[in-house]
Amino acid sequence: MSEDLKTMLKVYRGAADEAPRYEQFDVPHEDGASVLDALVWVRENEDASLAFRYSCVSANACKECMVLVDGKVNYACTAKLNTGTVTVEPLANKTLIRDLVTDIVPPKERLASADVE
Ligand code: FES
Repeated sequence: MSEDLKTMLKVYRGAADEAPRYEQFDVPHEDGASVLDALVWVRENEDASLAFRYSCVSANACKECMVLVDGKVNYACTAKLNTGTVTVEPLANKTLIRDLVTDIVPPKERLASADVE
């Protein structure tokens, strides 16, 4: 497997109660790689603590990988990884949990505490 291309991945880090910060990772990849591929590479090679969600991978079924890619809402699993610098941030209209993970459960699907006792 050749990894001829490089992308500087700039990733939002931190929890809701922390000052926001960005970390940058120089990610090698093949042509056709996705933003999710780059995030997985970072977690496997640079920082195992990077938090992000995914499940179906490219089936567009789970929608768990939705993030902001260069300021636009996108699926990390299908967003093509461009060369240069790519910025990945959590969804702006959802409650931040940590790094790229937000609370994506629709309010109607949340269990009230009385429902689980
Ligand atoms: S991982 Fe399911 S839509 Fe991206």
